[in-house]
Amino acid sequence: MEVVIVPDAKAGGELIAEAMAQLLRRKPDALLGVATGSTPLPIYEALAAKVGGGEVDASKARIAQLDEYVGLPTGHPESYRATVLREVVEPLGLSEGSFMGPDGSAEDVQAACEAYDRALAAAGGVDLQLLGIGTDGHIGFNEPCSSIASRTRIKTLTQQTIADNARFFDGDLDQVPRHVITQGIGTILEARHLVLLATGEGKADAVAATVEGPVASVVPASALQLHPHATVVVDEGAASKL
Ligand code: GLP
Repeated sequence: MEVVIVPDAKAGGELIAEAMAQLLRRKPDALLGVATGSTPLPIYEALAAKVGGGEVDASKARIAQLDEYVGLPTGHPESYRATVLREVVEPLGLSEGSFMGPDGSAEDVQAACEAYDRALAAAGGVDLQLLGIGTDGHIGFNEPCSSIASRTRIKTLTQQTIADNARFFDGDLDQVPRHVITQGIGTILEARHLVLLATGEGKADAVAATVEGPVASVVPASALQLHPHATVVVDEGAASKL
C-alpha cells in the first residue's frame, strides 16, 4: 500500500485526477469506479477541468457506481445514481449510456446485486476504483464486520453511517434509507488499482486503523492492505494519527 500525504483536499483531488487522466491517455475506454460523498468532489472538479481544458479526452471513459441506496424513488436527487450522473457523468460530458450501477429500486434486490457483479466482469473489470472512507472505516457501504471476500449484496446501515449521511437528507435521520446495495469487499479488491482519498481530522482514526492496523473485517478499508496496487491519499488532518 502506498500512502501519499498532501497538504489539503484540493491537492489530493488534483493528484488523483492526474492519475485518472494518465490512465485515460493510456486506455481511453477505461472503466472508472467512482464513489459518492463529499470527499471525492475535488477529484471530479479537477478531472472535469482537465477535460474542459483539453488536457485529456474522456469521451470514451466508462463510469461504474460503487454502491446505492435501496428503495429511494427512481430519480431521487440523493440516490447515488442521480448523484454520480450530476457530479461525474455530466461534468465529463458523458452520456448515461457510459454509466453502470446497481438497481436500488429492483423488486429482487439480490438478483440485482448478482447482475451488477456479472456486468462489472463483462465490462472487463474496473481499471481504477476511487474510494472514500466512513468514520467507522467502511468502504462503499461495507460496514464493519463485512466479510473481506464479500460480493455485491444488500447491507443494513449502522446508526453511525445513518447519522453521517443524514446531512444529505435535510438532517433528518428518518429519511435516510436503512438498506443499501454495495460492491462487496471482494468485488472492490478485483479492481486493478484502488485509490482511497481521506480528508479532515474526522477520518484520522479510520485512516490509522486502515494503514497501520491489522487486516480485520471490523475495519473494512484495511482490506486494501491485501491489494497489490492500492494508493491511500490523505491530507494532513486525516494523516494526523499516523
Ligand atoms: C458513504 C459512501 C462511501 C463514502 C462515505 C464517506 O457511506 N457510501 O462511499 O466513502 O459515505 O463520505 P464522505 O466522503 O462524505 O465523508
